[in-house]
Amino acid sequence: MTVQTFIPSAVKAASENTVTQPTHTSDVSIKKLYIETQGCQMNEYDSHRMADLLGDSHGYVLTDNPNDADILLMNTCSIREKAQEKVFSGLGRWRKLKEQNPDLVIGVGGCVASQEGDNIQKRAPYVDMVFGPQTLHRLPQMLDQHQAQIEKPKKEKIKLVDISFPDIEKFDFLPEPRVEGFKAFVSIMEGCSKYCSFCVVPYTRGEEVSRPLDDVLAEIAGLAEKGVREISLLGQNVNGYRGETFEDEICTFPELLRLVAEIPGIGRLRYTTSHPLEFSDDLIQCYRDLPQMVSHLHLPVQSGSNDVLQAMKRNHTIDVYINKIAKLRKVRPDMHLSSDFIIGFPGETDEHFAETLQFIKDLDFDHSYSFVYSKRPGTPASDLPDSTPDQVKKDRLAQVQEVIKQSSIHKTDAMLGKVERVLIEKVSDKDPNVLVGTADNTRLVTFIGDATWIGRFAEIEITEIKTLNLVYGELLNLEPDVA
Ligand code: SAH
Ligand code: F3S
Repeated sequence: MTVQTFIPSAVKAASENTVTQPTHTSDVSIKKLYIETQGCQMNEYDSHRMADLLGDSHGYVLTDNPNDADILLMNTCSIREKAQEKVFSGLGRWRKLKEQNPDLVIGVGGCVASQEGDNIQKRAPYVDMVFGPQTLHRLPQMLDQHQAQIEKPKKEKIKLVDISFPDIEKFDFLPEPRVEGFKAFVSIMEGCSKYCSFCVVPYTRGEEVSRPLDDVLAEIAGLAEKGVREISLLGQNVNGYRGETFEDEICTFPELLRLVAEIPGIGRLRYTTSHPLEFSDDLIQCYRDLPQMVSHLHLPVQSGSNDVLQAMKRNHTIDVYINKIAKLRKVRPDMHLSSDFIIGFPGETDEHFAETLQFIKDLDFDHSYSFVYSKRPGTPASDLPDSTPDQVKKDRLAQVQEVIKQSSIHKTDAMLGKVERVLIEKVSDKDPNVLVGTADNTRLVTFIGDATWIGRFAEIEITEIKTLNLVYGELLNLEPDVA
């Protein structure tokens, strides 16, 4: 079979840039907004909300052409150095647009904004607004402030920088969530309190704050009524969810999953991302009890060596991870497991690395992400001595990626002859008699069917493996609409 670039929908490598896609056509009288999104699904989610906010408050519509825009927003990522470098090179290009159009408004949000604050404007004085992941809901007011002081002399202008963490306020100000066909993303918490020694997230997005339970449930019920059938719960550490209930009690993540599964219309549940430490027995039982939960889990482990895990402050051993996965596979033998790995962490020896390679083979992972360690200013690991040459790290990364690639090929090949539950999403662009859907493990599945079935789930027997991410099949059973 041929190998294609394969990006499971559960996570996206933080090195990618995406442009939030416009939903309107171009018209010169309409004010236009261009958003460049760097990084994770949380950022993608936030970008959609920025577009909704400025659409509702000021009538902006999205454009996919920065040359055409009245506002340019960059939603940045600082998880690795490479991502951070992109910010200033991207801003340099935008500077030229501003030279041609002095009315152009430029805003920088996301994790680099959170980390750098007004340093952004020191390096790039043509940036008008700086906002963090927790203050993006204040964008409309920031824009008004910017417009109000446009005519003022430079020294009278207030710097528009707001990178504070105003607790959970952001959730109260946000419009409708992000919907993609029959799928929707629902943010259930913000931030992370795990403080892994290499990671900037707790500093850029703040400590964990959970959305109140009733807000989350009401949002999902509303989505289900509009035809959404698959929900992805989003957060940096979703199994740390502690949502307040109406009775002032605390709802845990497994409890939340059970409640979401009761909402009529929700036929499939995913989430990203969770931490092994809080991957509790109760959560494992949800996989036994709730058929809506997909047989696909992205559970970052970062390394297969106990020494490295300890230095990373992951607070668990390899055995803890292995035992949890064994328990999970007992209740869900067909579980597809993916993970994140950091290669070349300070102090990682050849032996440590060999342990990681072996661990990946032993645990039979599906597609995973791997990154060379990137030193992040302000994190504890940035002070650790690191004598491993860059070339050694690169060679290790190449080895790990080859093992990962082989295991995902193996996982796709193993689908042949199996029956997959598929959410039918659309008619194929190439053939009106062919439908396209996604399996639990995020592979695309195509089969002959009727367009009226779109939005329903079906059991499909896989008859041919086409590429790493595309398989063909035949309908065995069409489920009644879950609504
Ligand atoms: N809460 C998420 C983490 C988000 S960061 C989780 O636990 O999955 C996504 C991934 O980026 C991490 O899992 C890690 O593999 C990688 N990463 C984070 N900091 C990094 C760093 N300093 N260098 C290289 N990779 C890093
Ligand atoms: Fe980062 Fe560790 Fe949290 S990787 S997002 S500090 S779980």
